[in-house]
Amino acid sequence: GRGVQGALERREYTAARRLPHALIIGVKKGGTRALLEFLRLHPDIRALGSEPHFFDRHYTRGLDWYRSMMPKALEGQVVMEKTPRYFVTTDTPSRVHAMSRHVKLIVVVRDPVTRAISDYTQIISKTPHIPSFETLAFKNHSTAEVDSQWSPLWIGLYALHLQRWLDWFPLEQIHLVSGERLISDPAGELAKVQDFLGLQRIVTDKHFYFNKTKGFPCLKKPEGSSKPHCLGKTKGRTHARIDPHVLKSLREFYRPHNEDFYKLARQDFGWQ
Ligand code: A3P
Repeated sequence: GRGVQGALERREYTAARRLPHALIIGVKKGGTRALLEFLRLHPDIRALGSEPHFFDRHYTRGLDWYRSMMPKALEGQVVMEKTPRYFVTTDTPSRVHAMSRHVKLIVVVRDPVTRAISDYTQIISKTPHIPSFETLAFKNHSTAEVDSQWSPLWIGLYALHLQRWLDWFPLEQIHLVSGERLISDPAGELAKVQDFLGLQRIVTDKHFYFNKTKGFPCLKKPEGSSKPHCLGKTKGRTHARIDPHVLKSLREFYRPHNEDFYKLARQDFGWQ
């Protein structure tokens, strides 16, 4: 109808494209796809399926382009996207802040050593003839000096990256998800994320089952389907086998960085 009442009704019942209210900003190989797929079960969440890379790659296209990428949402629904590279790109925090200083930020973190191996496993699956993990991880072929510039290792310097976000956003606006617990207790991690987003806890343990063949939690009924569903083959890959000495050396390298990260995050993720 017309008039104030009609306007209110249209506002409430018309789906429109809106800028995101929440972003999954990282980390690459942390479990970001799993988190997004699980959140999509929530009727009050509207999430973009692909990674738009707006703040890191396509920023010059402008906010109208970015908005046009978003799924339509009703008033009150939470619009989201995930682009794991946001967490580690220098210009992103200020750009996100310029869009909205109230946006909610989510980071899935995972033991940086396991994350690096997962990252390397993905790289080698695309470019099979690259040098070994060990060769790339250390300078001068000695396990003494870690090459922290190498992307799979550099991404795991979480304290450094989080600090850049904390220069723009208060910690209360950044929710950290444990990548390990997302696998061992998906419903528990999802409960905290839904609380953080101000949503009812609708995604619960009823939605998950542990698939023994896959070795990961899977969905009993994903969105728009009645069949059980696990993530694809590229999620939950078998990792390259790494020499225990190499692992030890990397764990030592990350120890102080992890300690810094726990302090900044005000929580201990228990990586050792
Ligand atoms: P691996 O393939 O190394 O095991 P992202 O989606 O951010 O790229 O993260 C990929 C990682 O998500 C996988 O790394 C896997 O460990 C993790 N993961 C978490 N929950 C999962 C699930 N339910 N199914 C498959 N992978 C999951």
